[in-house]
Amino acid sequence: MSEKLNVLVIGDIIGKAGRRALAEHLPGLIDQYQVDFTVANGENLAAGFGLNARVAEEMFALGVDVMTNGNHCWDQREFLQLIEEDDRHVRPMNFSPHAPGRGWTVKESAVGHKIAVVNLIGQTFMGPWDCPFAAADKALEEIPDDVRIILVDMHAEASSEKMGMGWHLDGRASFVYGTHTHIPTCDEIIHASGTAYQTDIGMTASYQSIIGMKVEGALYRMVQRLPQRFEAVERGGSIFATLVSVDANSGKAISIERIHIPPS
Ligand SMILES: [Fe+2]
Ligand SMILES: [Fe+2]
Repeated sequence: MSEKLNVLVIGDIIGKAGRRALAEHLPGLIDQYQVDFTVANGENLAAGFGLNARVAEEMFALGVDVMTNGNHCWDQREFLQLIEEDDRHVRPMNFSPHAPGRGWTVKESAVGHKIAVVNLIGQTFMGPWDCPFAAADKALEEIPDDVRIILVDMHAEASSEKMGMGWHLDGRASFVYGTHTHIPTCDEIIHASGTAYQTDIGMTASYQSIIGMKVEGALYRMVQRLPQRFEAVERGGSIFATLVSVDANSGKAISIERIHIPPS
């Protein structure tokens, strides 16, 4: 088995613009970078709000192996059932104990490397979730010892809380990264004990928007402070993703590189 594994992480995919960009470019990216395993955040797949089987299957067919989630997890009611049946989906481990589904999953790459994907949600400006740090410790305890490659999606608003998680898991996870703000950060780093870290992967969506939503409606809510529907932009999507190479035996990160594909 090859010693090095290439993992591609895609952040929040917003509606049609994000899905179209991935349909056009993801299979090519997987070939070009010899990607062994792909994880994406699916909380905004269906027109910006949650996901359903149809849009999830679209992403799996393009090469996504596991889908993480976030605060929009239950926006589409059918996902309550879908997540129980399909273990390619994870939702934050520190949701209520009554939440269906799982906070981590283990899948294999094409050549048989086992990869764990853990999903957490922040507490700062996010809602009354349980402690993500305790949940991370619990997930790592539960993941079988022979699984060396561990990817952690920390879905959170506050950069500081995400950075805290990066250090909390340094040496215990392969890649800790943030999602949710929809804006990519350029702070990719490999920490002292071998954990790759990036505060936010950024959205795969149209950036001619306000975090993926049409400018007019979103701005109306800010300027007029009156109710207005959010509508996801449907075209002109950019891909922001991050490629991490991991030593398959130690689980430690070897390199980290941001990838940007502008709209075509
Ligand atoms: Fe999101
Ligand atoms: Fe979110």
